[in-house]
Amino acid sequence: MNITPDKPIGLIADSHGKNDLLVRSIRALKDAGAHTILHLGDICDSLEAHTAEDTVKILEENSIRGVSGNNEYSMVTEHHNKHVQNISDDVRNYLKQLPYIISIGPFWFTHSAPLNWPAATRRPIAEYLPLLMNKEAFPFEILFRGHSHQPSIIKIHNNRINEIPAQAGERLELYRNTRYVITVGAVEKYFAALFLPVDYEVIFLNIDDPSKNHITSPLEGYY
Ligand SMILES: [Fe+2]
Repeated sequence: MNITPDKPIGLIADSHGKNDLLVRSIRALKDAGAHTILHLGDICDSLEAHTAEDTVKILEENSIRGVSGNNEYSMVTEHHNKHVQNISDDVRNYLKQLPYIISIGPFWFTHSAPLNWPAATRRPIAEYLPLLMNKEAFPFEILFRGHSHQPSIIKIHNNRINEIPAQAGERLELYRNTRYVITVGAVEKYFAALFLPVDYEVIFLNIDDPSKNHITSPLEGYY
C-alpha cells in the first residue's frame, strides 16, 4: 500500500484483539474520508491471542499497515505463555515483521515512543519527552502514537511542553511552527483519529456515535 502524504490518514490504536471494534473503527474512518489507515500498535492482546488470526485478516483485507506494540512483542516472545502458544506461524510471522516506526516525511507513527527497541513500546511518553524535544535527533513535526488510551495533544514549542486534553468528536487546527506528539486514543475506548495533512488538522473520532464527529462538510480538495 502506498501512502499518499497529502490525503487524509486514518489512525487506529490499541484495538487489543477486539475485532468488532476494529471493524467499526475502519468503517468510521472510511466514512470520514480516510484515504489510508495505519494501526499504531497493540493490534492484538497477548491475553486474547485466539482473536489474532481474524485481526490480521481484517488488517490485510483493508490494506492497513501497522506498527508493533508491546502486545505484539509479547505475542512473539512469550513462548511460555499458554495464550500465545497456539497462534499460527502466519500470524507470528506477520507480527514479527511489524516495524516500530513508520514515517511519512515529517509525520511519524509509532506505538509509544519512536525508538527501535521493545521497551519504547511499553514506557509512558513522558519519560521520552526530554529526548524528543531534540529535533535534530528526532526530526518529526508530528508524532502520532497510541498506548495511552485517552487522546491528547502535546505541543513542543520554544523548548516548552504543553499538554492539551482532547475529546472525541473534536476537530483541532495545528500550527506549522509547532511540533506535536498526538495520542490518538484507544479503539477499545471508542476513539480513533483522522489527520488532514493539507488542512493541518486532526479530528478525534467517536467510533461509538459517529454523529458526534465534527465533520461538517465533505473533505473537498482531497479527491
Ligand atoms: Fe500498549
